[in-house]
Amino acid sequence: MEITITPASPDQLKKKPSDESQLGFGDIFTDHLFMVNYASGKGWFDPRIVPYGDIHLDPAAMGLHYGQEIFEGLKAYRGKDNGIYLFRAGDNCARLNRSAKRLCMPEVAIDLFMEGMKKLILMDKEWVPRTEGTSLYIRPTMLATEPHLGVRPSRTYIFYIIIGPVGAYYKEGLNPVKIYVEDHYIRAAVGGTGDAKTAGNYAASLLATELAMKKGFTQVLWLDAAEKKYVEEVGTMNMFFVIGDEIITAPLNGSILPGITRDSVLHILKDWGLAVSERSLTIDEVIAAAESGSLKEAFGTGTAAVISPVGQITFKGKDYVVAGGKMGDLSLRLYDEITALQYAGKPDPYGWVERIGE
Ligand code: COI
Repeated sequence: MEITITPASPDQLKKKPSDESQLGFGDIFTDHLFMVNYASGKGWFDPRIVPYGDIHLDPAAMGLHYGQEIFEGLKAYRGKDNGIYLFRAGDNCARLNRSAKRLCMPEVAIDLFMEGMKKLILMDKEWVPRTEGTSLYIRPTMLATEPHLGVRPSRTYIFYIIIGPVGAYYKEGLNPVKIYVEDHYIRAAVGGTGDAKTAGNYAASLLATELAMKKGFTQVLWLDAAEKKYVEEVGTMNMFFVIGDEIITAPLNGSILPGITRDSVLHILKDWGLAVSERSLTIDEVIAAAESGSLKEAFGTGTAAVISPVGQITFKGKDYVVAGGKMGDLSLRLYDEITALQYAGKPDPYGWVERIGE
């Protein structure tokens, strides 16, 4: 499928950020976007790159009413050689298509996903930032567009990709975050949509997160829905706990997001010869380890957040300081390793990194 390109006119070009060290997350978008339409019986059609701007939607578009929306998050990185690199982008496409299946939405062929994304990035390549700790965030999104109010899957969709330069996701940067263990609200239950990257999971997380933020926390740690006993994820990140010599993360049992950074961390830790377990972990075990001093570190993993150390866990009104409230050695070593791979600062033994241009 030929991608048609309509470049932005000079008056549509935007001002690039003047100080990359001040970039936050998710407010700035580049000059263009990639979009393609779908209709059942016809498939995907009219792939195009157009100037960034509003999209036209019927107010009855089904995605706005019944939540048929899925998305992805990945990044392009500027290497020291000026090259532009993608990290495990094919895995994002595979996850998008798993989310699509769960939400009764059409899959996107990997070639279309990759070609649209790469063309868009290279068209707006001057937006890929150069300052350490910055990158170009990529947000592939699919939305149901059929104007209809009966509850059933839509027959039409748009898939689009928007991109924009970002810095750290949390204002804390690499400083440890404080997390609140949520024992009232839940994010997702096994059998639900917790392992799909869909808007509703994030909507479900907002109230508890707002309440926690008002109390000074950065995020909430979700417990399993059935028993409120097992630690799951943080909503924007998967979680790892270092207890004694064991590094533990929750298994992919259906209610947590199969994070690509989570998977990369698992590979790297195994290659380092460390004891890693994907196993159910109760909040009681975490708290007992914090009390006995065997909880050495806790950290979150995510595309946006990379590796985010946890300096405090609060459960049932009690605060537990983790790793002396500082970034632990393992968290830092992982951060250095993952970012070295992502920015092509070292050889990639995994085949995760792809240079797409400069
Ligand atoms: C990501 O890490 O890319 C995410 O999608 C998490 C969050 C920003 C919603």
